[in-house]
Amino acid sequence: MIPIIIETAIIINDNEFRKLKELIYKHSGLFIENDKKEFLQNKLSSHAKKLKLESFTKYYYKILEDENEFQIMINKITTNQTYFFREQIHFDFLKYEILENLDSKRVFKCWSAASSTGEEAYSCSMVIANDLDTKNHRWEVVLSDINNEVLRKAKIAKYDLKEEKKIPTDFFNKYCELKKEDNKHFYIKKDLKRSIIYKHINLTKKLPQDLEQFDVIFLRNVIIYFDKETRKNIVENIISRLKKGGYLFMGHSESLFNITSKVKLIKPSIYKKL
Ligand SMILES: C[S@@+](CC[C@H](N)C(=O)[O-])C[C@H]1O[C@@H](n2cnc3c(N)ncnc32)[C@H](O)[C@@H]1O
Repeated sequence: MIPIIIETAIIINDNEFRKLKELIYKHSGLFIENDKKEFLQNKLSSHAKKLKLESFTKYYYKILEDENEFQIMINKITTNQTYFFREQIHFDFLKYEILENLDSKRVFKCWSAASSTGEEAYSCSMVIANDLDTKNHRWEVVLSDINNEVLRKAKIAKYDLKEEKKIPTDFFNKYCELKKEDNKHFYIKKDLKRSIIYKHINLTKKLPQDLEQFDVIFLRNVIIYFDKETRKNIVENIISRLKKGGYLFMGHSESLFNITSKVKLIKPSIYKKL
C-alpha cells in the first residue's frame, strides 16, 4: 500500500497574523480582515515549509530581509481573477463613444492599471487596434500589476483555449493564433503585443515618472481589496495620470462616491475627468 502523507500546516498565531497583516497593508495597501487568519495561513504555510522555516515568526523575518521572498508572498495573496471582455459595456463605450469621437492626432494612450494576467489589456488593445490601425492613428497600452508572476504570464500571452469563446470571433481571427505544437492554448499575436508596455507597478506607491497622461484608464476590480483611505490615495494617484476629459473605468461594484470629486459619473462605472 502507498502511504498517504498528510502535510501539516504551520500554524499562524494571533501576534504573527497581526504583524504580517500590518506589513502587507503598509507595502501594498491590501487590507486583510481580522477573520482571514486561516486564509493567510493556507496561502503561505506550504511555501514557508519549502523554505524550511518552522514558524511564521521566522517567515516574517525572512520576507523582511529578502525582497524576492516578499514579492513571492505578494504574488501568493493577491486575487487575480479576470477574463477577456469582462464587462462588455466598457469595450462598447471605448469603441463607440471614445475612439469614434477622437479628434486629436496624438498617440492614443490607455492604461490597464491592475491587469492581472493581461486579458483586460489585450481586450482593450483589440478594440483599439481594430479601430485605430486602419486610420494610421498611433496608440499604446500600458499593462501593469503589483504581482510579477501574473505580469510574466501576461507577457507570454498564452491562454487556455476554453477562453476563446469570450473573444469576438473576428478579433480572435485577427489578433490571436494557435500553435501546431500546442492544442490546448491560444496566443496573442506579436503584432498586437508590439504596442503594449509591460510594467511592474504598485498603485499605493509613487507612480513611475515615465508614466505619462492617459486618455483612458482601467482600474477595475482592485479597489475592493483596500480600505477607504487607501482607495482615496490610489484613485487620486491614478487620476493625476488621466488627461482632462479622459475616461476612468471601474468595476461595476466599485463606486467613487465620497472618494473623489475630480471625475464625474457619466454611465454606471464609467467616469470622466472634469
Ligand atoms: C481581481 S484582479 C482584476 C483584474 C482586471 N482588472 C479585471 O477587472 O479583470 C485584481 C488585480 O489587482 C492587483 N493588485 C492588487 N493590489 C495592487 C496594488 N497595490 N497595485 C497594483 N496592482 C494591485 C492584483 O495583483 C490583481 O492582479
